[in-house]
Amino acid sequence: SSFSTTAASLHGIQRLGVVGAGQMGLGIALVAARTAKVDVLLADNSEAQLAKGLKFAETLLAKEVQKGKLSQEDADAARSRLKSVKGIEAFGDVDIAIEAVSESLPLKEKIFASLADTLPAGAILASNTSSISLSKIAAACGPERASHCVGFHFFNPVPVMKLVELIPALQTSPEVLARARAFAEAMGKTVTVSQDTPGFVSNRLLMPFINEAIIALETGVASKEDIDTTLKLGMGHPMGPLTLADFIGLDTCLSIMEVLQRETGDTKYRPSVLLGRMVSAGWLGKKSGKGFYEY
Ligand code: CAA
Repeated sequence: SSFSTTAASLHGIQRLGVVGAGQMGLGIALVAARTAKVDVLLADNSEAQLAKGLKFAETLLAKEVQKGKLSQEDADAARSRLKSVKGIEAFGDVDIAIEAVSESLPLKEKIFASLADTLPAGAILASNTSSISLSKIAAACGPERASHCVGFHFFNPVPVMKLVELIPALQTSPEVLARARAFAEAMGKTVTVSQDTPGFVSNRLLMPFINEAIIALETGVASKEDIDTTLKLGMGHPMGPLTLADFIGLDTCLSIMEVLQRETGDTKYRPSVLLGRMVSAGWLGKKSGKGFYEY
């Protein structure tokens, strides 16, 4: 809508750089091009991943046209705003960069150091991390850039889920947080703000819930189907917790539980033994073809 465009331009955001063309990065790029109507540079060091991502974006846009949710003209305009680039070197004139690579602190520190070297002064450096401390990521950008770092946490599938959880680092300036909020709203999302604590709000509540469902399964409380059906039909959840764990990825669930446990030292966050064993076996959920269910 014209309101969205205005909100984005009022806060000086015309160009977005996305690092990582996986599920999350691609979803973020697509929604930014389609709804916030900004130009998007999508960077990934795998050319195959970039090509696959852009093809998926085209498929999703075509589906929306087919369903009558988007005009052909708007779909073409969104597609023309999406451009793939080889790396962060191409981000010399973006107003905001959102990093969406895998959950590894050394990798994110490296990426944020390059973003700090490349982005123009005043640009926002955002991370889609679901559990790594923003204050740590901001520290990797150096003292001048740290105030421009912010957590920008999306939910899968990005085009469907209406939330962005914003996480200010200790170093984040209020003005940067306000601009990030305006940009998330221009993308059509509702914003919540969480302090930079382990798991933020979303995963501090979701992961212990999923973990407890896995403990219920491993201690024989009920079958996996009955655990999922209880939450689906009894509480109106769109997916039961074990199906949701497969959808998110069991490796991701385990790594978030480990962050919660390590950083709080609280035994209530102990990951289920079965979850650890399944990850060791390579049963990672939907993405590996097998988790609690077969795909
Ligand atoms: N990309 C874009 N659109 C998608 C999509 C995708 N990957 N997957 C589904 N959709 C769309 C469908 O096209 C469909 O759109 P229409 O209503 O316009 O037809 C709509 O979503 C519903 O899809 P389906 O009818 O195929 O299936 P469904 O009704 O079972 O919904 C679901 C699928 C939206 C994924 C739903 O099951 C759901 O909401 N599940 C819970 C998801 C969730 O909790 N996500 C958060 C995970 S946590 C996280 O991401 C963050 C973290 O830090 C771990």
